[in-house]
Amino acid sequence: MTLFPSLSLHRLLLIGSALFLANMAHANEQSTNAIEARIAPVGKVCIKRQSCQQDAVATPVANVAPAKEYTGRAGEKIYNTYCIACHSTGAAGAPRVGNIKEWQPHIAKGMDTLLKDAIKGVGAMPPRGICSNCTDEELKHTIQYMIDKSQ
Ligand code: HEC
Repeated sequence: MTLFPSLSLHRLLLIGSALFLANMAHANEQSTNAIEARIAPVGKVCIKRQSCQQDAVATPVANVAPAKEYTGRAGEKIYNTYCIACHSTGAAGAPRVGNIKEWQPHIAKGMDTLLKDAIKGVGAMPPRGICSNCTDEELKHTIQYMIDKSQ
């Protein structure tokens, strides 16, 4: 008989601490919500292990796309494979890489025109400078490389 009251006391303590913990968690959640509400216009609180991805899409402020990274081949590599044949020798009147005088009138046209010309071909230069599998972006990087090497 003496066991019963002590058991129930034990239970009470257990229930008590469970309630206390639940209350703590609740209070913690409430204060997080309060903080979130206060800083909401500026940013979002991202709790560890809780994905903020959805919020990023929904919140225009966090929706600034990062600059796209270049994933194509290096301009130097493409130049050495395809363009070098004409652009190192000046074959058919190609402006030679390393010769700023020959490049000057071309550079003056601006990158947009140079890229357009390189894509569709210009004068004696075949379309894409014979690099048929080069993307526009890769051609742009290659032209930039050639210009940089000519300065
Ligand atoms: C078969 C020879 C040949 C090859 C290969 C070649 N080019 Fe050319 N390229 C030329 C010639 C010739 C010109 C000068 C065209 C003109 O101004 O009449 C030229 C001009 C250019 C210009 C200047 C265009 C302008 O609008 O002034 C760029 C840029 C260029 N080439 C990029 C490249 C790139 C990049 C490659 C390689 C992917 C390449 N070329 C491969 C012959 C070539």
